[in-house]
Amino acid sequence: MSNRLQLIALAGFSVFALSGCRQDMHDQPKYKPQRPSDFFADGRSGRTPVENTVARGTIYEDAAYYTGKVDGKEIDYFPISVDKALIERGHVKFDIYCSVCHGKIGNGLGMIVRRGFKMPPSYHTDKLRNAPVGHFYDVITNGYGAMWNYSAQIQVRDRWAIASYIRALQLSQNANINDLAPADRTKLASLDKHPPMPKGLPQPLVPDTPANKPDMKAAPAGQAKKTAKQSDSQ
Ligand code: HEC
Repeated sequence: MSNRLQLIALAGFSVFALSGCRQDMHDQPKYKPQRPSDFFADGRSGRTPVENTVARGTIYEDAAYYTGKVDGKEIDYFPISVDKALIERGHVKFDIYCSVCHGKIGNGLGMIVRRGFKMPPSYHTDKLRNAPVGHFYDVITNGYGAMWNYSAQIQVRDRWAIASYIRALQLSQNANINDLAPADRTKLASLDKHPPMPKGLPQPLVPDTPANKPDMKAAPAGQAKKTAKQSDSQ
């Protein structure tokens, strides 16, 4: 037999042999989810796990870490250690998931709110400044009133990271000069109120008022009143 004929015979045999296997691969002895079974007495292919078994990676023993609560009470400490990297991570996640409603500084004036969504409370109220840190974790995990939860989008550790960043935001809007080191306090006092912006950076906005725009006429005193009246009657 020539080499060529041998090759053709081999190819033919392979097609025959492989198609034999194919049928087995098509009808695998397995159950698809929710399919019935005539093997088990109750007719279900999906079995409940044996009591007290725990699937790998699903042991949630640390209640403080996973729920933000101990004995049903929100905890007022971080169950993981907080460092700069964690706060920075929280900053990134906060800007992505929360700032759209709560605003970048947490004052409740995010873009979605400016387009009509219910305005959330500012984080800079006594109520939320004094709220235990577990409360922020719980709100992210379970939602709060009109706010839905973010447990599907934000991992447990990142929820704590966001909570740590919210604490930083709260401090940023309510800092006391006495919290600074004495050297920094002196430095702050010696600064101009508004040091000039370096060239090339956007300059501070000066509002348009008749005082700095001589060609702008001051509105006659009566006009403002009239407009207010008009809108009243509408
Ligand atoms: C789509 C808009 C929206 C987003 C996004 C959002 N929130 Fe809210 N949040 C709200 C609104 C609205 C409320 C007030 C709900 C109410 O009182 O019914 C609220 C309330 C809160 C409160 C106050 C709860 C209290 O005790 O008063 C906290 C804390 C909070 N949100 C944290 C977060 C965090 C953290 C994120 C990001 C993971 C986030 N929110 C994302 C809209 C939003």
